Amino acid sequence: MIPDAIVEEIKYRNSIEDVIGEYVSLKRAGSNFVGLCPFHSEKTPSFTVFTDTKSYYCFGCGSGGDVITFIMKTANLEYPEALEYLARRAGIEIPKTETQKQQGIRRDKILDMNRVAARFFHDNLKNSETALSYCKKRGLSGSVIKHFGIGYAPDSFNALGDFMRKKGFTDEELISGFLCGKSKKTGRAFDYFRGRLIFPIIDSSGDVIAFGGRVLDDSLPKYLNTSDTPAFKKSRSLYAFNFAKAACREALILCEGYMDVVSLHAAGITNAVATLGTALTEEQARLMKRSTDRVIISYDSDEAGQRAANRAFGILREAGVETRVLHMEGAKDPDEFIKKFGVEQFRNILSGSITEFDYKFANILGKYDISTTEGKVKAVNDACKLISSFLSAVERDIYIAKASNALSISKESLKRDVDRSVRKNYYKKKKEFTEDIKRKSEGYGDRVNPDYAKNVKASAAEEAILGMMLDSPEYIRRIKKGEFSLTPNDFHSEFGKAVFEAIIKACDDGKFDISVLNESFDSVQMSRIIKMQIARRGLTNSNKAFEDSIKTLKNSKSKEEMSLTELLNKKRKINKEDI
Ligand code: GTP
Ligand code: MN
Repeated sequence: MIPDAIVEEIKYRNSIEDVIGEYVSLKRAGSNFVGLCPFHSEKTPSFTVFTDTKSYYCFGCGSGGDVITFIMKTANLEYPEALEYLARRAGIEIPKTETQKQQGIRRDKILDMNRVAARFFHDNLKNSETALSYCKKRGLSGSVIKHFGIGYAPDSFNALGDFMRKKGFTDEELISGFLCGKSKKTGRAFDYFRGRLIFPIIDSSGDVIAFGGRVLDDSLPKYLNTSDTPAFKKSRSLYAFNFAKAACREALILCEGYMDVVSLHAAGITNAVATLGTALTEEQARLMKRSTDRVIISYDSDEAGQRAANRAFGILREAGVETRVLHMEGAKDPDEFIKKFGVEQFRNILSGSITEFDYKFANILGKYDISTTEGKVKAVNDACKLISSFLSAVERDIYIAKASNALSISKESLKRDVDRSVRKNYYKKKKEFTEDIKRKSEGYGDRVNPDYAKNVKASAAEEAILGMMLDSPEYIRRIKKGEFSLTPNDFHSEFGKAVFEAIIKACDDGKFDISVLNESFDSVQMSRIIKMQIARRGLTNSNKAFEDSIKTLKNSKSKEEMSLTELLNKKRKINKEDI
């Protein structure tokens, strides 16, 4: 438990607009700030930072919270870790209790452990003939090995474990950091990486957050990666982004594999990164977008690589990144290409990389024989679908010109088809959108508050009550004094009841800070709580409004209970008549 006074101090010294401003470019709008939401892709800003309530809310995707929720979500931290982070940012010392010191902060522990293990792997590589000769075979020089901190995990079940235990780490810690697995039979820890070349994954602040390990032969699986831990989220990390970040103003090169990235960096192309054995995620795309405007996809030239490139285009486009793709012939991946043809040749194909349209259109032309009528019709259909997927009318016009030329058809007729398809897409999207809204308003799929739909009137009333309590905390104090007759059991939904209880509990000496709720609710629940508060902005939070909402809540709740009794009675009657 971190004392309230410290939480208050942390919030005071980390103004929400400054902290969020480090991640989102914010523009002033009256007393608030707006910007592009970092939690979903958008082109017009609906992400708002409210300076008076020190909270944020996105009217597009509904994420919301305070400065602590924001850090928990963006940096993937638990509540105490987020406080720790913000405290450090503001130069505040958090006093620790003895138990806290013992438990340690899990994330820091894992980073500590990883640093020691990375050192062990790296030192161990120097002593392993087999590993060194493998490196030699793959063209990994001593300086490259050092730069990337590459290491070798001995082919043993307890070499790392023994070393780490001597350094004071426990089995439990080693298992939770995925440096060790847990034996099903004995329950004991065994080394997770064995006989593998180790690539440490390092984040922007230089911490080793995870490892990837490659076998030295043809055995399977070829690569093992650390699973997600409190220090590592695979879907939000990119290999070598720590180095590439400094060199990627113009573009980032996105590869499939560790070895591709290592080879490119070794050859002086230091803006290359790779995903970690998974397909590109939206989070990774947004991470790249924050540092660069252009990404060059440089996947393997095989079919799987090309399929992955097709998918990556869509994700990068959503994130607002200008994307190109590399055309590579005579080698299966960038690593092999550079070894075979040299880095100058690679720079040539880099500068010849093409846009999404050119790449996909070339694929269409390659797929059909356009000298036949049938082939041409199919190619025109595909081209039309492709062109209509672009949102900008100017872009579409350019592509229409290109395609009509290549397929020798009239621009006008292609344009008519494209326009029709654009309209169709639009209506389809709109329909999906309204259906989604409808579903949500009916409460289906409401995971945060599944009880909402069961009694919409009572739910709306309780959200109004909670919103007023959050927006005007004097109501919390007055409830505690007994000025209103309102108890947890008056609430209709489990969620509403839990929020009410948490607020009452958090306000112990008359003061209330919404931050404390981050401890009991996750970021999705926090978003809903902030939404209740935001909904009360600009409305009168008068005594009468508050009392009316309490009345509505109680009435609609008792009506619901009544109708349930009525229903039961009816059922009984019917059953009697049956007899
Ligand atoms: P080399 O074969 O050494 O050149 O490695 P590579 O990086 O070119 O590997 P490849 O093209 O086969 O795979 C691309 C990336 O996918 C790798 O760098 C890994 O991140 C991931 N990957 C490959 N095989 C596996 C596997 O068996 N398991 C997991 N989890 N990831 C894998
Ligand atoms: Mn390879």
